[in-house]
Amino acid sequence: MAIDAAPTRTVPFLRKLTRHARVPVNAFEEAGTQANGDLVRLNMGPFRPYLVTHPDHVQHVLARNQPNYVREGMFWDPLAPLLGEGILSDGESWADSRRILQPLFTAKYVNSLAERMAEIINELIEETVVPGRPFDVAKGVSAIVHPTIVRLFFGAKISVADINRLVPAYDVAVTAKAIRLLMPFVPELFPMPGDQAFKRAIKAIDEVVYPRIRQARAEDQEGNDVVSRLCKARQDETGAEGDRRIRDDLVAMHGASTETSATALTWAWPVLQTYPEIAAKVYEEIDRVVGGDPISTAHLPDLVYLRMFVNELLRLYPPGWILPRKALEADVVGGVTIEAGSTVLLSPYLTHRLPRFWDRPLVFDPERFAPGNEGKRHRYAYWPFGAGPHVCLGQHLFMMEAPLLIGGILRKYRPVVHHDGPVTPRLASSLRPMAGLSMTLVPA
Ligand code: HEM
Repeated sequence: MAIDAAPTRTVPFLRKLTRHARVPVNAFEEAGTQANGDLVRLNMGPFRPYLVTHPDHVQHVLARNQPNYVREGMFWDPLAPLLGEGILSDGESWADSRRILQPLFTAKYVNSLAERMAEIINELIEETVVPGRPFDVAKGVSAIVHPTIVRLFFGAKISVADINRLVPAYDVAVTAKAIRLLMPFVPELFPMPGDQAFKRAIKAIDEVVYPRIRQARAEDQEGNDVVSRLCKARQDETGAEGDRRIRDDLVAMHGASTETSATALTWAWPVLQTYPEIAAKVYEEIDRVVGGDPISTAHLPDLVYLRMFVNELLRLYPPGWILPRKALEADVVGGVTIEAGSTVLLSPYLTHRLPRFWDRPLVFDPERFAPGNEGKRHRYAYWPFGAGPHVCLGQHLFMMEAPLLIGGILRKYRPVVHHDGPVTPRLASSLRPMAGLSMTLVPA
């Protein structure tokens, strides 16, 4: 049994949370500053998870000794009824889903999805944007991102009525358990606000998803959409069990793709307003490359600065701001013994702000991601899409979706965000901007 080389430091997180009750992200950031890359324990009363932020330690937990750190406990257990036993689970059922899904996400397939995605995004911008009328930023972005993903995943198999049912149900499902994320020590059996809404949302999702799956399995499965691809990949697994495996992967993929993408893209607008010089470069590039044409994948290779901008958005505001794991066996990381069965929290949000690894970490500067700069930083200093065997399957899709959506809007409009001063993040299941942020799009 390994012995502590150094005593484990404990950060009084509950006290910080009480002090920063109105802006909990400040408590979290303060804890990260106090840890300064060391492995510490967060004192949350009855619950004392380990906080991992140093890139070497991130590499150890997510890649080198990954089988020891499973998706169980905090965050994962409350969401298990939604996510099922598919790609967002762990162990054998996860490995099985990963084997099936990874080959589906080839560059060729992702490129073909992106072509279709560009068409859908252009249509949705036309349908949803009313120039000159203020709207809630998160809702406006979601009104494009959500139906885009649903149409890509389900193809022609889904009706507008079903989309209108699925989108709000997902929104409820991923937000209803937020309170359990901040109070992970409350047992699942103890009722909490949001539990009933969560159950109703799952029921609504299943009522849309299962009939689509059965229909896709009964028909030929040559479609290019994700449902057809999944059905084809699991064609030997018949009956209710086969339907359920497809449902679990589909619902988990949907959850992994919409909330993250929509959250990331919500941050673009306040950032453009806060940094006018950066915004001017983004606008100049889009005007030059896209001009008045509908945006398409052919424009993407030339939108170099926009890509740097998106990478920097994901550095300062990574939607998956916290990744909890449970240690199966005791382990030593950074000289600290992690006890078997304890919770380990990893946070790209905190790693991405470590002054040891980032120059002026709180300054928004896309130049960090100028071509050729990747080699200059620690490989695990930047990991908005996770790392190791569980690394995000959709990162290339997102890196196409983001410039298509931002470029598709900015080729015609300029944002005016109705807020003075910095926009603070809100800790939910993803890192959303503070509630109620509104903006107006005006002609460019
Ligand atoms: C800004 C956008 C996105 C961000 C920040 C993001 C982030 C992440 C992160 C941090 C993980 C690792 C989770 C873990 O280790 O427990 C992950 C996994 C995953 N992501 Fe994404 N994601 C994004 C978009 C997408 C999209 C568009 C898709 C689907 C098309 C997708 C599908 C997945 C899947 C299936 C996994 C699970 C992989 C596995 O466990 O084997 N993501 N993502």
